[in-house]
Amino acid sequence: MSSQGRPPLDRIFLTGASSGIGRGLALALARPGRAFGLVARRAPLLEDLARELEARGCRALVMPADVRDTDRMVEIAGTFLDEVGGIDLVIANAGIGEGRRNAPIDPRRVAEVLAVNVIGVANSVSPFVTPMRNQGSGTLVAVGSVAGFRALPGSVSYSASKACVATLMDGLRMELHGTGVHAMTLCPGFIRTPLTDKNEFSMPFLMDCDRACRAMVEAIERRKDTYVLPWQMRVGSALLRHGPEWFVRRATARRGA
Ligand SMILES: NC(=O)c1ccc[n+]([C@@H]2O[C@H](COP(=O)([O-])OP(=O)(O)OC[C@H]3O[C@@H](n4cnc5c(N)ncnc54)[C@H](OP(=O)(O)O)[C@@H]3O)[C@@H](O)[C@H]2O)c1
Repeated sequence: MSSQGRPPLDRIFLTGASSGIGRGLALALARPGRAFGLVARRAPLLEDLARELEARGCRALVMPADVRDTDRMVEIAGTFLDEVGGIDLVIANAGIGEGRRNAPIDPRRVAEVLAVNVIGVANSVSPFVTPMRNQGSGTLVAVGSVAGFRALPGSVSYSASKACVATLMDGLRMELHGTGVHAMTLCPGFIRTPLTDKNEFSMPFLMDCDRACRAMVEAIERRKDTYVLPWQMRVGSALLRHGPEWFVRRATARRGA
């Protein structure tokens, strides 16, 4: 911890860095001297981001990978640890939406959403748990969603995946209690990114990506357990969690389920 009680964030491994929130988080975390491991499948976009980070005095390792591939994730985590000498922050951000409208549930799509959004998170954080425990410090972050608080008609496998992510990180935090390693979940509402650009339904309290990423970095520095944003969604998520089903059905009626 620093003298202000903030955890060190100098060595950062970030998935889904090629676009949207991942790219925004990298730029919001950029400080001279920091080292980034940038993970996603689209290497050219990672290389563009690496150049931007290097221009800000950071070191950036471009690590193309599919987060579903456990062996590849172990390999690049090892490369990162060897090259950088340790790890302060892992952000498991890579994720996909459901893309199902007015269609029956498709088991293959459910498997794909769970593979990226859940197994991808496990693959991203697990290689770093032992090194962090040995160091006695580190922060593990997963990007969940307010959609994980309640099944949303039209996005049931996405909601299930994000509920699973939050449960996984809550459990990990309890398992790691007392080791100096923290696990937390960021739960955005609607943030303007290529993922939400595809949405045809209305998105209440849609937030600018850069602003959202600055707020999420602040939450990481403060080691929150669960951080919901924007603030209107904190209120909304309580209604989502505890409201009756008729309320949820009505609130999501325009999603096309
Ligand atoms: N935007 C929102 O309103 C919102 C709200 C709540 C939660 N979230 C969550 O925030 C995270 C980021 O979403 P976003 O809005 O920034 O979407 P985005 O712009 O579509 O970015 C998704 C990122 O995930 C990466 N990715 C997807 N599948 C991958 C795979 N199999 N292996 C490696 N990387 C993969 C993509 O990179 P490649 O395609 O290059 O692999 C991309 O960098 C997701 O977990 C999403 O569920 C977003």
